[in-house]
Amino acid sequence: MNSSHSKVILITGCSSGFGLLAAARLASKGHAVYATMRDLNKQGALINELKERNAQAKILPLDVCDPVSIGQVVKEIGADHGHIDVVINNAGYAIGGYFEDLTQEEIRSLMETNFFGVQNVTRAVIPLMRPKASGTIINISSISGRYGAPAFGAYNASKWALEGFSESLYYELRPFGIRVVLIEPGAYKTKIFGENQRLAKNFNNEGSPYFKRSHFLKALIDEHLKDNYRDPEDIAALIEQIIGKKDPALRYIPEIESRLQITLREILPFKLYSWIYQRMLFKGFKDH
Ligand SMILES: NC(=O)c1ccc[n+]([C@@H]2O[C@H](COP(=O)([O-])OP(=O)(O)OC[C@H]3O[C@@H](n4cnc5c(N)ncnc54)[C@H](OP(=O)(O)O)[C@@H]3O)[C@@H](O)[C@H]2O)c1
Repeated sequence: MNSSHSKVILITGCSSGFGLLAAARLASKGHAVYATMRDLNKQGALINELKERNAQAKILPLDVCDPVSIGQVVKEIGADHGHIDVVINNAGYAIGGYFEDLTQEEIRSLMETNFFGVQNVTRAVIPLMRPKASGTIINISSISGRYGAPAFGAYNASKWALEGFSESLYYELRPFGIRVVLIEPGAYKTKIFGENQRLAKNFNNEGSPYFKRSHFLKALIDEHLKDNYRDPEDIAALIEQIIGKKDPALRYIPEIESRLQITLREILPFKLYSWIYQRMLFKGFKDH
């Protein structure tokens, strides 16, 4: 932790998935990691991972929707180090379901975490980055922040909002030497598709006009994920690489298939792209 390359790093959502692995990996490389989670009862998995890697991190409570908890963590880091080098805005979740099957409350809650939560943390850390004229803000977006998909509208909206905000912030903070980075992963084996998966209130309502389509899509995704999950450690490794760069790019799409899809989405006329996409999604679907 005392090496001159060691950085002071705050990470949100470290109870599982990318956050947990990034915290353990970066701590094992000698960085001063503040691994936060909203429920400290869930710290066991991170503690085990840290032990396995012979690493140490400070584990603190932080709910991205609660500015008081954010303030306490930032105050503690300020007292320990006087600055923050890196923040990884990782906390987030997804909810599946067509717009009319979702309640407004479900959509608002998602925005509170995936979008306003990132803003809450970012607002609190910038004052601890500006005096050193350096710092990196890494926002874990998603490939879902680059294209829309049926039954993913709420998640798409939260990540699209994060993309727009981050691109704007990139310009705003560059003059102060602070870098903003977006990571846009595809599907990785974390709890987001498992025990943390959420579905719209009316997802299972057989009276919904979307019932058959949303269940068809869920089955398709479940089937696809069986063989196509990637290792979340790859994202932790990418984060480590980005942290080592003096001038990282704004956007990182980790997988080649996602890069290909986004390129097609950008270069093809939308009518053609969306025709192909719908044919792929709903192949074999019967509406009766
Ligand atoms: N896995 C993928 O395929 C994938 C792909 C693209 C993007 N992402 C993004 O990657 C990020 C991490 O997700 P993951 O895949 O690692 O899923 P995960 O295993 O479900 O982890 C999500 C983490 O976020 C935390 N969290 C949720 N709401 C929070 C809040 N209000 N305050 C603080 N922490 C909160 C969760 O805490 P609790 O345990 O308390 O719920 C958990 O620690 C998310 O932003 C997600 O959208 C994931």
